Amino acid sequence: MFRSAMLFTAAVVAAAGVFVRLGGSVAHAQTKAPLEWGEDAAVRPWKRYQGWPVRGESKFSTLAKLVSPPPAKEPRKLGAPLAGNAENGAMLVADRNRGGSCLACHVVGPAGGADLPGNVGPDLSEIGSASREDEYLFNYIFDARVYNPETVMPPWGAHGTFNDQEIADMVAFLQTLKTPAVFKTELDDPEKRPAPVERRENLDPIENPGMWAIDKAQDLFTQKMASGSSCSSCHADAQAAFKTWAAGMPKWEPRLNKVLGVEEFVTRHARTTTGADWPMETDNNRVMSVYLHFLANGTPIAIDTSSTEAKAAIERGKELASRKIGELNFACTDCHGKSADHWIRGQWLGPPKGQYDHFPTWRTSLQAIWDIRQRFQWCQVNIRADELPPDAKEYGDLEIYLASQSDGQKLSVPGIRH
Ligand code: HEC
Ligand code: HEC
Ligand code: HEC
Repeated sequence: MFRSAMLFTAAVVAAAGVFVRLGGSVAHAQTKAPLEWGEDAAVRPWKRYQGWPVRGESKFSTLAKLVSPPPAKEPRKLGAPLAGNAENGAMLVADRNRGGSCLACHVVGPAGGADLPGNVGPDLSEIGSASREDEYLFNYIFDARVYNPETVMPPWGAHGTFNDQEIADMVAFLQTLKTPAVFKTELDDPEKRPAPVERRENLDPIENPGMWAIDKAQDLFTQKMASGSSCSSCHADAQAAFKTWAAGMPKWEPRLNKVLGVEEFVTRHARTTTGADWPMETDNNRVMSVYLHFLANGTPIAIDTSSTEAKAAIERGKELASRKIGELNFACTDCHGKSADHWIRGQWLGPPKGQYDHFPTWRTSLQAIWDIRQRFQWCQVNIRADELPPDAKEYGDLEIYLASQSDGQKLSVPGIRH
């Protein structure tokens, strides 16, 4: 094994020599970067980050399996008039621990002014004067899909987030709402709250602590690892070698039969070439990913979509982006697309473009660097879906789809985000 790796390396060096002597440009596509493919590129069993909520969501669909209960076909008939407790209902609509609850998307009456409500759904502060039947409101909350199959509202009752009595309590509360919400300041009103504008200069090391990753990676690059070689043993001039490389990632990798992103590349390439063990979502991996992206900054994203396999992966990614998953039954496109340019609680949902060019990115609120796979994972955990390990092939499909949507945008890494 060691021997053949040595021979392989020697062949590469010789080939490169020929190219240089002929004065032509070195055709990178002709030499395949050595990759380890025997093992997983991330730790198994996958374990959620410390501080991320631990819940059992195995009853609900994920990006890898479809198991959620199907929507009801008919509204439920209520035998008796609802006897709800409006006071409890008022608390429930604002309870963040219930999937963000109603204020995430609705202004809800007097309480609506208090807690940065969102505006993905209509203002409900006068719903009590709108002559809605209790039975209709109950069913809308229980599972809105019986009225609107395209709804983005979670099936609160059908997925068990609220029980029947709690839904009756919220109905009772909604029926009391008859006056427009009063907002103390413009910030409280999602219709007037100004969209955030990122003014920090992401490549300024004083403004973006994520820039420390570059120094750290430069050290790592020249450090000898288990095999006795460093990255720089084979790549003497990283700046020249990788000036554009990351802008073509992720790509379909036939040897792995899946889409390979920069972070998984780093794990697998480092293991074979230097013996360094840098699983995905560990510090060294992230730092090296930031660096390889950084070297390609300014290069327009250009994903290779020429192969049938790459095209098929993009199609699968597109489908996954609109798959409803988790207890809250959201698809990526429900928030990043359908509801773009709205507030979900105090969080602004930007338009779907411009989501990819700055990853890995520094996150000020967490004082940490997040790569794209970790961002995918959190967007699932947040909607009460089980996330996949970072090297899951579904994430590769999703990533290549997202990158292809960002075609032509120039890399600017590390980004900086809230
Ligand atoms: C992810 C966003 C979202 C959340 C969270 C949400 N809703 Fe909605 N809701 C909507 C949208 C969007 C509509 C508009 C109709 C549609 O798309 O189904 C709606 C419609 C409604 C309606 C029908 C209004 C009408 O005029 O007929 C009611 C009632 C309602 N929501 C109640 C609630 C309650 C109660 C909660 C919390 C338990 C809640 N919603 C949480 C998005 C949301
Ligand atoms: C034993 C030699 C060797 C070592 C050590 C090595 N590489 Fe490579 N690397 C290669 C070869 C061979 C290629 C493919 C041809 C080329 O791009 O020159 C490659 C390609 C790459 C590419 C471009 C990938 C592509 O698909 O063309 C990147 C990025 C890279 N290496 C990064 C690294 C990093 C980071 C390290 C340190 C962990 C490292 N390399 C260590 C031999 C090596
Ligand atoms: C319930 C709403 C919601 C759903 C569903 C959701 N996200 Fe997000 N996502 C957010 C919010 C909020 C942010 C942070 C604000 C922002 O940057 O738009 C975010 C941020 C992101 C970002 C980073 C954007 C940036 O500019 O840094 C990416 C990429 C992303 N989401 C991808 C996904 C993918 C892929 C899915 C589906 C697996 C998904 N999201 C599902 C709400 C959602």
